[in-house]
Amino acid sequence: MSTLQVDVWRGAEAGRFQRFEVPREANQTVLDVVTYVQRRLDPTLAYRFACRVGMCGSCAMTVNGVARWTCRTHVAKVAGDGRLEIGPLANLPVIRDLATDMREFFDKWARARGSHAPTATRRDDFARVPPASPARAAADAGIECIGCGVCYASCDVVAWNPDYLGPAALNRAWTLANDVRDGARAERLRAVAGDAGCHACHTHMSCTERCPQAIAPTASIAGLKRATALAVLKGEL
Ligand code: SF4
Ligand code: SF4
Ligand code: FES
Repeated sequence: MSTLQVDVWRGAEAGRFQRFEVPREANQTVLDVVTYVQRRLDPTLAYRFACRVGMCGSCAMTVNGVARWTCRTHVAKVAGDGRLEIGPLANLPVIRDLATDMREFFDKWARARGSHAPTATRRDDFARVPPASPARAAADAGIECIGCGVCYASCDVVAWNPDYLGPAALNRAWTLANDVRDGARAERLRAVAGDAGCHACHTHMSCTERCPQAIAPTASIAGLKRATALAVLKGEL
């Protein structure tokens, strides 16, 4: 049976890669490899996953230098030569081994006003939003974010400026800015217009190239840039 040579990060920020030999299987995912290591070779390995089907966003890691969701990444796609190097996501503090601390990532969603501010009560009728309206189309484009952090780990601006809100939080802000039922548009635009907000994006596109959900945070950020500039011209910010 052929084997994979797998180097797995061990430790926190200071640590080292530890090598394991893992049997190759048909249709094996990178998460299957990590699970094999933890279940069969070293039960002390720390990593995170939940759904295994690309929905929860918890299994992202750095695989051969690239941030990926590991439950939907097949070994055959990324390790043709039989070698894998698996580390924690970049741009986030490492708790241990492959598990990163996501607090700052989600705190930035809150700083970008990433939660819906309702304008209706439960006694009101359902809001009717025309599916073909431009605002609805813009909201639809970013709504399927699973909060995996792949874009955040791939963004050079986050690495240079730890205060930068980052592609996922800004994509969320743009999604809500286009939700006609939301009542916090001006506040949200104010929250993303500062030095650490949308205007810090250098349009490198790594977030858009790597997002496993085919979301384009770069386009969302461009939308925020336009909307904040317009709001300034109108004296709203
Ligand atoms: S497009 Fe902007 S947010 Fe996306 S990776 Fe590049 S700099 Fe970061
Ligand atoms: S925008 Fe894409 S890469 Fe970024 S957190 Fe959401 S799903 Fe993950
Ligand atoms: S385990 Fe849920 S997205 Fe991978």
